[in-house]
Amino acid sequence: MTSELLRRAREYERVRLPEIRPGLLPAFHLTGGVGWINDPNGFSVYRGEYHLFFQYYPFGTYWSSMHWGHAKTKDFIRWERLPCAMAPDEPYDGYGCFSGSAVELDDGRQLLMYTAVRKERREDGSEDEFQTQCLAFGDGTDYEKYAGNPVISAGELPAGGSARDFRDPKIWREDGRYYAVVGNRCPDGTGAILLYESENALRWQYRGILAASADRRGRMWECPDFFALDGLHVLLTSPQEMRADEPEFIQGNTTLCLIGPYDRERVRLETEHEQTIDYGLDFYAPQTLLAPDGRRIMIAWMQFWDSVNWHPPELPFFGQMTLPRELRVRNGRLYQMPVRELETYRSAKKEYRSLILSGETELEGVRGRCVDMIVLIRPETEDGLDTFSIHVAAGGSFDTEIRYSPIRHTILVDRSRSGFPPHIRSTREFPVSAEDGTVALRVILDRWSMELFVNHGERAASFTLYTPQEADGIRFRARGTARIDVEKYDLEIEHE
Ligand code: FRU
Repeated sequence: MTSELLRRAREYERVRLPEIRPGLLPAFHLTGGVGWINDPNGFSVYRGEYHLFFQYYPFGTYWSSMHWGHAKTKDFIRWERLPCAMAPDEPYDGYGCFSGSAVELDDGRQLLMYTAVRKERREDGSEDEFQTQCLAFGDGTDYEKYAGNPVISAGELPAGGSARDFRDPKIWREDGRYYAVVGNRCPDGTGAILLYESENALRWQYRGILAASADRRGRMWECPDFFALDGLHVLLTSPQEMRADEPEFIQGNTTLCLIGPYDRERVRLETEHEQTIDYGLDFYAPQTLLAPDGRRIMIAWMQFWDSVNWHPPELPFFGQMTLPRELRVRNGRLYQMPVRELETYRSAKKEYRSLILSGETELEGVRGRCVDMIVLIRPETEDGLDTFSIHVAAGGSFDTEIRYSPIRHTILVDRSRSGFPPHIRSTREFPVSAEDGTVALRVILDRWSMELFVNHGERAASFTLYTPQEADGIRFRARGTARIDVEKYDLEIEHE
């Protein structure tokens, strides 16, 4: 049954989406097309295709009552928009259908599990908020909320758990049972990830606390994901109000990855390694799926909450997803590289080998704003190398700088000339490991963003850019002398 609220959202999409000039949207990063998006939701395989839902307000480029937008893809690069999947149209979710996840059921239906948010006015006029976990069933386009909602509520919390900060269930199936991790706040006011188990996805039992912040790594822990990878277990979460512990953790709402063995008996992740997931300025709320070929693929909202209060007024959308990334665990670190499907869209190859550079250089055929470029940088030992910079989205007064310092063992990205007003944070510096000073960079540009992959996925860093599209220059600058290899492709994605 389609509610009036859902009908309105779908009608708005039907009228507005065809009016959007395609050149205004990223070529291969998903947006809502119209309106606002935040977290990826329900990233999963359904009937042989990859589905992605997202936090969505279709009617304006700001956060408001949360709907679930919807798209699907066969190859993670070309997305097909589907009609809005859910609206906040029930008494228990009237304040919003917050984040959640999806699985395919044996009977062929798709199950969505999400956080329903409801507000209640107290006698003194103030408001109370309640978050519960709810279900909807569908066929890949239309969804019906479950008559027995909510399926997990305050009664299934551990002692002292918060009924107000209780959200973002990530559901999965394992050995014929269903499991879900949910973010919560402990009595100490800081984050914890709770594990639930169910036989049928309808009745759930609380099992324990997988991991908790204990006021070390931020406060409320949002958007958890939990999976086995390369012999260990990985927990992803997005802590609010992280305290700076640089260079690994910057202040604000950012991301955290915990890696270690999983003690199933005690329901405990034995954390051995912790790291930031992405070292850029725009990356939050990642979610993964397990592809049929065994790859663990992650996608995230390419945005920080701290900078949502500004975006260029001429763009019809706010919020983009990152490129889907293949994950691995190596040497206790989470590695991430763009999905290999991206390579099938490469064209116009330009290759330069063993160029000796000092000072500033442009290379014939190397420019563009939809680009996949690999640069290998080696200091020329005799002369030494202070810094090596790649300037992208360059032209007029604009450019975005990626500056590698073999002396500091860091990469610094500076987007202070990338179209943002001065109050938006513009620089980020992070460590790189560089044997002999050699560093491999892969830079992916797509109109309004840049994603950087360092040393074959050892670190990734995502940035939105609002530089005018005419600024499509790419320049290289060595302070000192470097020997570099450059391999550059255009990325051309035709949409149906
Ligand atoms: C994270 C988040 C989630 C919540 C959603 C609301 O970005 O705050 O915890 O479910 O956004 O839109």
